[in-house]
Parts: sequence; structure tokens; C-alpha cells
Amino acid sequence: MALLTIHGKEIKIPLIQGGMGVGVSLEKLAGAVAGCGGIGCISTADCGYREDDFMKNPEEANLRALKEEIRKAKEISHGMGLIAINAMVATQQYAEAVKTAVKSGVDAVISGAGLPLDLPEHVPEGEALIAPIVSSDRAFNVIARSWERHYHRYPDFVVLEGPKAGGHLGFKEKELLEGTCGSVTDILKKLVEAVKPYEEAIGRKIPVFAAGGIWDKADIEEVQDLGAAGVQMATRFIATEECDASQAYKDTLLNASQDEVRIIHSPVGMPGRAVFTPLIQKLESFGRIPPVHCSRCIKTCNPAQVPYCITRALIEAVKGNYEEGLFFTGDNVGRLDKMTTVPELIRELGF
Ligand SMILES: Cc1cc2nc3c(=O)[nH]c(=O)nc-3n(C[C@H](O)[C@H](O)[C@H](O)COP(=O)(O)O)c2cc1C
Repeated sequence: MALLTIHGKEIKIPLIQGGMGVGVSLEKLAGAVAGCGGIGCISTADCGYREDDFMKNPEEANLRALKEEIRKAKEISHGMGLIAINAMVATQQYAEAVKTAVKSGVDAVISGAGLPLDLPEHVPEGEALIAPIVSSDRAFNVIARSWERHYHRYPDFVVLEGPKAGGHLGFKEKELLEGTCGSVTDILKKLVEAVKPYEEAIGRKIPVFAAGGIWDKADIEEVQDLGAAGVQMATRFIATEECDASQAYKDTLLNASQDEVRIIHSPVGMPGRAVFTPLIQKLESFGRIPPVHCSRCIKTCNPAQVPYCITRALIEAVKGNYEEGLFFTGDNVGRLDKMTTVPELIRELGF
């Protein structure tokens, strides 16, 4: 039985597994989550890193891999749940990746790391659900107004990423360090109010999924009581057998304690959250690790100036290179203490 219908598409459990780049959420994790009736999400960020020609021809390798990952995720899910992609606005291949995913039959496109103002242009109406990731009611309003004005389209659902999330964060570094961003529940209350006039205007629900530090059934119930339809979770999915990262990545997070979590500068131009590993130590000591190769991944990146190459650092991490990798994590990583499986985790969450 469907628990939630989102603009005509049904899911059995109101859970999105958050997209995790590079390579942490690909076909196996996304397929397993969808197989349980939720929304499994493939990160498009350099998702072709395992292809033989990735170093020589990253753009082609990424698009080829993306098609295949969507196909395999759908196969693994046996038609249950939905398969989404997470595409970051800040990436060079943003538009191409979204178009390729839609042609490959992806069910939903979730987009953040910048304002996805032109997302409707790349996703023909009715082909896939479109959803922005926001960190405030203000960002939602800017996107919704712009989509309405330019495309007569509306978000099919929205992901609210609070300050405890992993990866890139939509808050100022200073606010994150000082703890003045407001909690995900505070922001959620405002977002739920901001969404209402749009729901009334279009006569359908725009479900809100809260993300960032959501850990257990009690957290899920708390945000649902405040008006969220469901949650997006990422860090807990890293310690699953199905997660596409190496066991060394999973172990790095399993072994990390709360005081090893750092806010870092990303060449994307946003702060990020990662585990304190030798790479971060080196950057603190030397200031810069000059890139040796460029895969043209980020729109605003200037390899001659960036402190380090984030693509290389994330790829080394997903492969399990503890010394040179950048290990993105959510703030609650200290609570991660055992490996599990996707169905087991979903059962534990009370779904
Ligand atoms: C390893 C890792 C990589 C991530 N990569 C991305 C990404 O590529 N794009 C994105 O929009 N969010 C990314 N995120 C954020 C997650 O999708 C998710 O919204 C957030 O981490 C939820 O908080 P939680 O980890 O506490 O559950 C990443 C998070 C982690 C932990």
C-alpha cells in the first residue's frame, strides 16, 4: 500500500536516502533503499570514477556510468520505491547529468549546492519529479517563485537540509562554528508555512523531507509532528553492507568520534563537514596541496588557486585511502557504531 503519493508517484515509506558524492551512494545503496519502498538516491558527482577512461575523459565516463547506475538501481529495486539522482548545481556537468538521468528513466531529480533555478528546463513536465534542497524558507521562496514565473512549474517535494547534515552545507561557516544557524526543527516550522500558499495555489501537497542529524524513530516522529512528510538521511546509510563506498570509508566513519568532526573549506565555495583525517591535518599545516590533475568538475574552480582538488580527495576517500581522502560525514557520526544492512536499518527506524 502506498503511504505517500508525490505528484502521482507512490512510495511506501517516507524516507529519502540522501545523495552522497563522490561514489558513496550509487546503484547498490540507492537500489536497496528503493527496494524497501523509499527513495534511493544516486549522486551524479563524478559517478564515473570507476570507469577505465575517467582520468582521460571524465565527462563521457560520468554520463555513461550514470545511465548504467540508474539501470542497475532499478533492477535491484525490483520496481519498488523510487530511484532519484542528486545533482549539484555547482558542478560543470549539472545540466548534462540531469538530462541524461531523465532520458534513462530516473524517477526524481533532487538538486542543491546552489539554487537550482533552471532545473525545470532540464526535466520535461511529467518525466521525473523535481525537488530543490534548501536550508531556509527564504531559499525555498526564491526557487518556487522563480519556477512559477519562468516555467509555471512547482517543486514536487522539497528537502530541508539543516546544519547537522554531511557534505556541503548551505550555511555560513561562521554560523556553523558558532552554532547560530538555528535547528532543523526551527527552520522546518518556517518552511512548512512557506510551502502552504503554493500547495493551496496548485491544489496538491508539496511534501517536505527534513534532513541533517535525523537519527532514529523519535527524530522522525518529531519532524513529522512539525509538518514534515518524511526525512532524508545519509550518514547512517554509510554503515550498511549495501553502501557503495569501500569498507575503509565505512570504518573511518565507524571509528570517528564527535570531537573528530570538522567544518572545512570546499573549493565549491561552501563549507563542508568531514572527519579530521591526515588530509585535513596537512591542509591545516601547509595551507595548500596543489592539484596535479583536473577533471573539470566544479564551475567556479580555478586549479591554480584552490587549496586542494576536492574530486581527487573524495575519490581517494571512497576508495579507502585514509591518508589522502576527504571523508564527508554528518555531525552525528559519533553515534555510528556498527555495520548493518539497509532492510535492518529501515526496520530499526520503525518503517
Ligand atoms: C558522505 C556524504 C556525502 C554527501 N554528498 C552530498 C552530495 O553530493 N550532494 C548533496 O546534495 N548532499 C550530499 N550530502 C548530504 C546528504 O545527502 C544528506 O542530506 C545529509 O547528510 C543528511 O544528514 P545526515 O547525514 O545527518 O543524515 C552528503 C552527505 C554525506 C555524509
